[in-house]
Amino acid sequence: MVEVVPAIIAKDFRELKKKIKLVEPYIEWVQLDIMDGKFVPNETWRNPKDLKRIETPLNLEAHLMIQNPFRVIDDWFKNDCQRVIVHWESLGFDKNKELKKIIKKARKIKKEIGLALNPQTFWQEIEKFIPKLDLVLLMTVSPGFGGQKFLPEVIPKIRSLRQPFPNVKIEVDGGINLKTGKLAARAGANILVAGSAIFESENIGKTILELENICPVIQLPVCFSAKRRKA
Ligand code: DX5
Repeated sequence: MVEVVPAIIAKDFRELKKKIKLVEPYIEWVQLDIMDGKFVPNETWRNPKDLKRIETPLNLEAHLMIQNPFRVIDDWFKNDCQRVIVHWESLGFDKNKELKKIIKKARKIKKEIGLALNPQTFWQEIEKFIPKLDLVLLMTVSPGFGGQKFLPEVIPKIRSLRQPFPNVKIEVDGGINLKTGKLAARAGANILVAGSAIFESENIGKTILELENICPVIQLPVCFSAKRRKA
């Protein structure tokens, strides 16, 4: 089984609440896409204080696609986000120093911290941080919009990260559907983030279930043997 996390790009708080309710019965985590119009050319709802007004059993993961996330990360942690993901490319001048401070903040408040890498960023750039992170998010599109086309060139990157780090949580995000999700899971991703594939589906529950059972990463040989059997 891979884990599926629906991604919500909300223009306002009303849309955020509506989309959370749509997926609530089927999943444990939901990703809130937070965009500032500077790090990415799009803007979304992004007031963490609103989250105190949401009643949900879901774990909230804030995907901060914002410049210099250090200055606001506390707001997201303190307003019911269990996990915050920041972009390596969005950190300030001394990225290493800033990421160390961010990880320390997360540990102090006992929340999870993930690091996102855009498609063109080599994961080797952040290798030394991997054992200290709760998750690495490999973007399979350039961040900023939903409904974009999956970038297959990220597949070898997923595979090369999985090899030396068998236990790291690898999340992928962007253009994920049944076909691309299977490619990513086979390469070693264990968390699939999907927006359009879920929210544009006629049957959200069924789509989430299909994505979860896409290609059980731990039973990888089964996937390949199934393929061999057909041939
Ligand atoms: C970055 C966003 C999107 C979104 C997923 O642009 O993070 O990747 O979550 O959108 P879909 O699944 O529609 O590509």
